[in-house]
Amino acid sequence: MKQPFHPVIGIIGGGQLGKMLIESAMSWNVQYNVIDPDPNASCKAYAKTFINSDLKDKEAIFKLAQISDILTYEIEHVNTEALLELEKQGKIIIPSPKILSIIQDKGLQKQFYIDNGLPTANFQLVQKNKDWKEALSHINGEKVVAKLCKGGYDGKGVAIVNRSEILSGNFPFDEPSIIEEFVSECREIAVLVGSNGIETITWPCVEMHFDPTLNLVDMLFSPANLDQETENKACNIAIAAIKALNGKGIFAVELFITPSGDILINEIAPRPHNSGHHTIEACVTSQYEQLNRILLNLPLGNTDLVKPAVMINLIGPEMVSGNYKLTGLETAMDIPGFYLHLYKKEETRPGRKMGHYTVMGDSIETARTNALKIKNVLKISAL
Ligand SMILES: Nc1ncnc2c1ncn2[C@@H]1O[C@H](COP(=O)(O)OP(=O)(O)OP(=O)(O)O)[C@@H](O)[C@H]1O
Ligand SMILES: [Mg+2]
Repeated sequence: MKQPFHPVIGIIGGGQLGKMLIESAMSWNVQYNVIDPDPNASCKAYAKTFINSDLKDKEAIFKLAQISDILTYEIEHVNTEALLELEKQGKIIIPSPKILSIIQDKGLQKQFYIDNGLPTANFQLVQKNKDWKEALSHINGEKVVAKLCKGGYDGKGVAIVNRSEILSGNFPFDEPSIIEEFVSECREIAVLVGSNGIETITWPCVEMHFDPTLNLVDMLFSPANLDQETENKACNIAIAAIKALNGKGIFAVELFITPSGDILINEIAPRPHNSGHHTIEACVTSQYEQLNRILLNLPLGNTDLVKPAVMINLIGPEMVSGNYKLTGLETAMDIPGFYLHLYKKEETRPGRKMGHYTVMGDSIETARTNALKIKNVLKISAL
């Protein structure tokens, strides 16, 4: 029997983002096929067909395409060439793999911003080790940021280094990289953007707080503490970037706000994003439902924030690997506005994203106070 939403969606990547994408349309009876290299991937139990394969495996991606009407991806490290080929053959892939090929390479991504007049920190490309010093001569500041062009995620492949280290021949990476001006004392925000190719909308800005040791977002606030003018400016830059990309789908635009109020694009993710988890409970339409609407050719949903929210990632602690338990749950559950998401990962590892929780309140201060109370007690620990 054909369900009301009959197109079968194929997701490349079966992690938590895919899981939440599926969960958001479960009540619509949408069907999904998933491909992931982890035989116990978060999405596995939800998939109509689960293909256990590397995301670079062309044959596996073609198989997924064969059994799915529409394709999307929840991670950037996929076989883009295979997707470009499929798109040429007429397969619907959202967002287009053409966007992926720009975003996958931080050098191309940065050059795209420059070519389209979009604000971003000054940068230079470093192809070979011998280029580091020459590139550095075009970049200001005692501290600079080096980033691998390809393959980085969750802050891996990003190094904040002193100019003197590079000058003394200590190069952070030996693969093609970019070297970028360090934006000091900046605030970090993200703007989620949804587009069906005709209409492009944003969610209210979110403000990120980073854990300096893990280099991961550890707390996220929405609304961000911004004046209306800055909020509008950030949203307009994000929309301009997605329009320049000809983007259809869901995108997260990560931005820096400098102490003087300038807004710079750091990077764009062409998929649902960690900085939009709170939208599940805190917004009229979540980033996940919105992507489903776009994939299924339905009207875009309203993105208003229903209540202020704080989101915290549940990260695998140092020294704990393997099976785990969650302590402090009773205390957390007693606090109103607490929403828990676990990602169905069987084993914890240091720094691994195991889940997240959103805490909503009548004001951002209440949400923050309650979120911190929960953060103090809710822990992943060894079984
Ligand atoms: N030019 C810069 N100036 C200051 N800080 C920076 C700069 N570039 C990156 N950072 C810091 O490093 C973090 C990670 O950088 P970036 O987002 O480019 O890498 P990533 O590997 O894609 O990370 P993620 O997957 O967590 O988004 C940023 O969120 C920011 O805190
Ligand atoms: Mg980032």
